[in-house]
Amino acid sequence: MPYRVLFVSAEYAPLAKTGGLADVSTALTRYLHRRGDDLRVFVPYYRRIAEQGLGCVPVDYLQDLELAFGPHRYRYRVLTGTAPGSDLPLYFVDCPALFDRPGIYGSGEDEHRRFLLLTRAALECAQRMGFAPHILHCNDWHTAFGPLLLKTAYAWDRLFAGTRSVLTIHNIGYQGVFGAAHAGELGLGSGEALLHQDDLQAGRINSMLHGILYADLVTTVSPTYAREICTPEFGLGMEPYLRARGDGLVGILNGVDYDDWDPRHDRYLPVHYAADDVDGKAVLKRQLLERLGLGGALELPLLGLVSRLVAQKGIDLLPPVLPELLGRRACGLVALGSGEPRFEEFLASLQRAYPEQVVYHRGYSDELAHWIEAAADIFLMPSLYEPCGLNQMYSLRYGTVPVVRRTGGLADSVSQYSRSHGSGTGVLFDHYDAAGLRWGIETALALYREPRHWHNLMANAMAQDFSWERQGALYVDEYRRLVGPA
Ligand code: ADP
Ligand code: GLC
Repeated sequence: MPYRVLFVSAEYAPLAKTGGLADVSTALTRYLHRRGDDLRVFVPYYRRIAEQGLGCVPVDYLQDLELAFGPHRYRYRVLTGTAPGSDLPLYFVDCPALFDRPGIYGSGEDEHRRFLLLTRAALECAQRMGFAPHILHCNDWHTAFGPLLLKTAYAWDRLFAGTRSVLTIHNIGYQGVFGAAHAGELGLGSGEALLHQDDLQAGRINSMLHGILYADLVTTVSPTYAREICTPEFGLGMEPYLRARGDGLVGILNGVDYDDWDPRHDRYLPVHYAADDVDGKAVLKRQLLERLGLGGALELPLLGLVSRLVAQKGIDLLPPVLPELLGRRACGLVALGSGEPRFEEFLASLQRAYPEQVVYHRGYSDELAHWIEAAADIFLMPSLYEPCGLNQMYSLRYGTVPVVRRTGGLADSVSQYSRSHGSGTGVLFDHYDAAGLRWGIETALALYREPRHWHNLMANAMAQDFSWERQGALYVDEYRRLVGPA
């Protein structure tokens, strides 16, 4: 018998994505669906999804619905449709007052209500569907009130009597904090006593914290990050509550969707390659550099960067390191991403200073992300912290050697190359400073100049397997631990 899983997420690839949360929501639910589990996946019907012409159809018994959050009332309805390339039905919560906006996230005073509506709509639709989930699976702060709602506002409903809740923390850097004056909007009734009282006194409500306190199981996206967030350096205030969870906190490394990310059949690439024949990689490098006007940098090792440009990603370390390397023509660079203006400006200034070696593309492009993974020789991920990280795992499959800081999922997915043994898949540096990153890049560049080592590195990297078949099974093990065999 399959598990019945109510899965709620603010992002879903490729329909609505700002980062890895979208990739993981999609890949994990598709894995469970393939396995035969009975999934009900709820995501907001953002404007950008509506504009994609998916041919969604209204669910006739989920129309003209209403939810109240204190004095705020919202009407919504539910549409169903599938994402390209999948037959898993998705349930889109269509509430124009909250989701018909240009971005996925906002900064308005109703931000918490947008995702509370998503979470409660998922529970109320489960009721109307007569769907009794074994597992309510919530993701990040947006849906972290799910577990507490289940224990309070929805506790009366026998439908949920056997339901256990899981909160997956993709990034503890975003906790969804809002003002205590909004407490009444949560609809907890007498359950308000379960809110974190010291925080309330201090005038705030922290969404992530309530998921950590009340989910039956808390997971995060790598074993190392699971340990790190129990310390003050990485826990960002959540560490005492996470430590208190004991074995109720587990780290499961994300997987990679190799249907999307594999140089043997990447749909964005005109030429394919594999571990036993990497010639195509050089062809793609030449094509990309010519297309970007960097033909003169063809003989240089090419660094790649695809990232949200925020402090988490270690972009601060680049200014003291890259200009000097570029100045002596040690490498080229193709960078893709958007985020904080200071980081965007830095990359734009690098391109101006070294126009024959650097291209910076500001913005978001799936296509260019795939090209960079394939065409670059070295992939940079010097993160300050990294819950899991996906790009370093993509890089491994493309034989693009990752230079990463030893933290979180980077430490769990990349291993240090050993010259004496010829083992290892990349270069890891420990200290979060310019000297660390400089050492990492110089080490990779030195190995690049020694074909025997570079060949080993690429072969080791491309042999790694982080498929969802393996990682997804670890989630199923946890479901089983919570509710027994389905
Ligand atoms: P995070 O979720 O913290 O951003 P991950 O490494 O887990 O980090 O996931 C990032 C995902 O977003 C990857 O699939 C990556 O390719 C993608 N990505 C990030 N920035 C861009 C961009 N500017 N254009 C295209 N894809 C991007
Ligand atoms: C977060 C993290 C990233 C992780 C992703 C998916 O955005 O920053 O490290 O891979 O979620 O779990």
